[in-house]
Amino acid sequence: MSIITLTEEQELIKMTAKDFAAREVRPEAARNDREGKFPKRLVDKMSELGFMGMMVPEEYGGSGLDCVSYVIALEEICAACASTGIIMSVNNSLVCNPILAFGSEKQKQAYLPDLASGKKLGCFSLSEPDAGSDPASMRTIALRKNDSYVINGAKAWITNGAEADVMVLIAATDPSKGHHGISAFIIDMDTPGVNVAKLEHKLGIKATSTAQIYFEDCKVPRSAMIGHEGDGFKIAMTTLDGGRIGVATQAVGIARAALEEAVRYSKERQAFGRTISSFQGLQFMMADMATRLEASRLLTLQAAVMKDKHMNYSKESAMAKLYAAETAMWVTTKAIQIHGGYGYTVDYPVESLFRDAKITEIYEGTSEIQRVVIAREVLREIV
Ligand code: CAA
Repeated sequence: MSIITLTEEQELIKMTAKDFAAREVRPEAARNDREGKFPKRLVDKMSELGFMGMMVPEEYGGSGLDCVSYVIALEEICAACASTGIIMSVNNSLVCNPILAFGSEKQKQAYLPDLASGKKLGCFSLSEPDAGSDPASMRTIALRKNDSYVINGAKAWITNGAEADVMVLIAATDPSKGHHGISAFIIDMDTPGVNVAKLEHKLGIKATSTAQIYFEDCKVPRSAMIGHEGDGFKIAMTTLDGGRIGVATQAVGIARAALEEAVRYSKERQAFGRTISSFQGLQFMMADMATRLEASRLLTLQAAVMKDKHMNYSKESAMAKLYAAETAMWVTTKAIQIHGGYGYTVDYPVESLFRDAKITEIYEGTSEIQRVVIAREVLREIV
């Protein structure tokens, strides 16, 4: 762990998450990955621990904690199971956060207690089959009719899509206005016209659902809108700034697990009459893995601290996600290399860590999009 000093409360959260991850999450991670099974039991337990609405104030039934506490707990869960971690992250970052930041008092009271207590699960719908990195080109339309909106279109890549009870939806209310014609809604998944269709067969995070969702004349009241008409693009971007801290944390957890596996294996495996950990070639590899991991964690904590201080942290969360995701990919590749042939089999956890790492370079903004966000800020800042 880094020199960042945790408060007593944060230390307690870390120990609670670590203990839960070791006792409950890790033992079933491989089976859930193999069977593609949503870890309902673990989500229920995380709800009991207050992990599903960590930054939601207590008055709305949440844990009332800061983003640093969330990152600390999430790293422990992700190091044990990246799937379980992203289910927690989506509910906290992409669902509770926008309702908390932009929702009306009525929406907060109606949705946050159930989402934070785990009675309900949330998902976030922005991307579409033909609009991922460029969400402003979305085609899902919410047309105003008197006191309602009628939604038609298709959303894609929705984590938690198959299990969610509630969705934060970003849709175009006036396509002629570009970014300013996009709005945000909160919708119950059992609303007629919401159809969870295709579930993706994925390389990793197999214990999560990734769904396409179709809207067919789905009628929602005007009161389902979050903020005002035209606020949706900014709500989505602000939400993703926070979401990227969650994905960066997921990447840190994956990289940490891979490093730990590699170090332990290297101390047991013998070659040429000694443990392979005594070879400098491997030691240098592990030194670089540990250094990149630590740098990723520090970038992530920096973004979390900035979020807690209500500073603008777009660039920092993009940096954290970019660096941590590429680190997770790099560290898991090296961890397999250290395991040799065994690392390439399903008998050792590094194989699934490698598969899980890849998604962190893609969802909630690809590494290329993070570079766009960072470059724009750097060009603006340095005159
Ligand atoms: N916070 C607040 N406002 C922001 C913002 C931010 N971080 N970024 C942009 N905006 C505002 C701008 O100020 C601008 O407002 P004005 O028009 O009033 O000036 C408006 O939004 C448009 O901004 P840009 O011109 O910068 O928009 P752009 O079209 O060039 O896009 C982008 C910028 C960074 C490329 C953005 O489109 C982006 O982040 N793309 C990636 C989307 C993404 O991450 N998708 C993942 C989906 S979620 C997911 O993965 C599913 C899951 O379940 C996990």
